[in-house]
Amino acid sequence: MPESGWARVDEVQDRKLVLSNLVVASVDVLVEAVAGEIPVATPHHAEWLEEGADVADRPRAREHSLQADDTQARLASIARAYSPVTAELDVALPVSTGAFPDELRGVLYRNGAGSLEMGRDKYMHPFDGDGMISRFSFDAGEVHYKNRFVQTRERKAELREGRMLYRSFGTRLPGGFRNNLLRMRFKNAANTSVVWHGGRLLALWEGGLPHAIEPTTLATLSRFDFDGQLRPHRWSLLTRLITPEFPFSAHPRICPDTGDLYNFGTLIGADPKLVIYRVDPRGVMRERRFIPLPGGLPFVHDFVLTQKHLVFVLPPVKFGVAKTLLGLASPIEAIGSDPDARTRILVVPRNGSAPIWLEPGFVFHFVNGYESSDHEIVLHGARMPTFRGEQIDMRDVASLTKASSLDALLTRYTLSLKSRSVQEEQLSNDPMELPTHDLRFTGKPHRYAWAIAREAGSRAPFHETIAKIDLHSGRLTHAYVAPDLPGEPVFVARSDDAEEGDGWLLAVTYAAEANVSELVCLDAQSLDVIAKAVLPHAVPPGFHGRFVRHQGQP
Ligand SMILES: [Fe+2]
Repeated sequence: MPESGWARVDEVQDRKLVLSNLVVASVDVLVEAVAGEIPVATPHHAEWLEEGADVADRPRAREHSLQADDTQARLASIARAYSPVTAELDVALPVSTGAFPDELRGVLYRNGAGSLEMGRDKYMHPFDGDGMISRFSFDAGEVHYKNRFVQTRERKAELREGRMLYRSFGTRLPGGFRNNLLRMRFKNAANTSVVWHGGRLLALWEGGLPHAIEPTTLATLSRFDFDGQLRPHRWSLLTRLITPEFPFSAHPRICPDTGDLYNFGTLIGADPKLVIYRVDPRGVMRERRFIPLPGGLPFVHDFVLTQKHLVFVLPPVKFGVAKTLLGLASPIEAIGSDPDARTRILVVPRNGSAPIWLEPGFVFHFVNGYESSDHEIVLHGARMPTFRGEQIDMRDVASLTKASSLDALLTRYTLSLKSRSVQEEQLSNDPMELPTHDLRFTGKPHRYAWAIAREAGSRAPFHETIAKIDLHSGRLTHAYVAPDLPGEPVFVARSDDAEEGDGWLLAVTYAAEANVSELVCLDAQSLDVIAKAVLPHAVPPGFHGRFVRHQGQP
């Protein structure tokens, strides 16, 4: 194992690699990874559950929880949220409630699936629709809205033909097995998130290249490969044919001290690998690192960046590559989990590495993490018992509830690098997802986070609140700001030097009965609604977004 596992970009050009995009290739192992096994120390701490589950004195009553007898009707109504967006607009938004703060200046970018159908063909899974960027610019209390689809080559080709031409993460091509057999080109949906870094706006999708987007017009500029660093070099012809691109996940994390962006991708092949990237503040990719993943390709969606480490939780939830390639299943349908297998935690120091193990579980999204001492790392994440996203079928309204049946719970992992052990604490019984934090505190000790959530015991089919999370106590405080679907709350600091959590939350919410999407601004501490603006059309619930205060910021 090299002393530092990081390989400079120019040092890895001549190495054979295995790439992603759900394709197999045979290759050599490149860089030694860090491996080892560590026993689990302590699992759950019940006392935290009691503290977090105190519902009686919560400040807001549950006004919109669904009753069993109207659940189906409400589901049908909520399903309208997934109707395709047909217009690309550029308009000032009328403010319907309150006033947006004068100090709130900048741009909120959000990404999500703007259309879950192509011609007469419908996508099965909410992850599959074509990416649409929403841009909200704030200036002196006024809000301007613009939305544009990401013009991927796949979308353009499908629009020309008026039908689905590519397999997707959760959808097979119409026509059954024969139409999917060995079809190895998957659609880059460009729909999951956006990031502003190095003076560049990128639309992200975890299975392929990012797309560069013009930040004002939202025009799609190019498939972006960091000067060729996300493409194979000097590979065999076969490998280049079937694995033409590296994946660049939708969850990059930016170090607030150095301005470096870290990201990753998972590479399928005879020897699956994790590839980790470092991009400097000017947007130049400086380092890549390849870490073998023995035992199959895990489904990894997010990671944690601390001041000294990158931490990956690798669950025993894995892709069935052969089944996918044979056209018997979409990638997400081919995901399987082994309840007897252990989740591995891979800790990658910025200058070294050390792996540890913990009990099985699946974390789709992390909140944040930090070093609490020289030998201890604390992570906060939304932990599920496993991942069963394959059960969602967008053609069946009732199946939408399966999206929220997993009940991810706020969990703290304390990793001891000294004893190589993991302590796992469930902090609350209230299910939550799409957690966000004050990005100035990425990798540093932190107290606050926000998420979409619902109270334990709620019968709502989806998360129905925007919640503030106090990570010191594990307590979630809920705000019922949308009758049906609240979106990911993006935190905006009141000023560059404001205290942690002092600022606003921006979220796009959906009210099913009125079929209306709204932009909502909340006080991030009190969760009081400060302002709302009604969008001129309903927008399907998106995934992730970013607020850009200064165009020059990393
Ligand atoms: Fe995500």
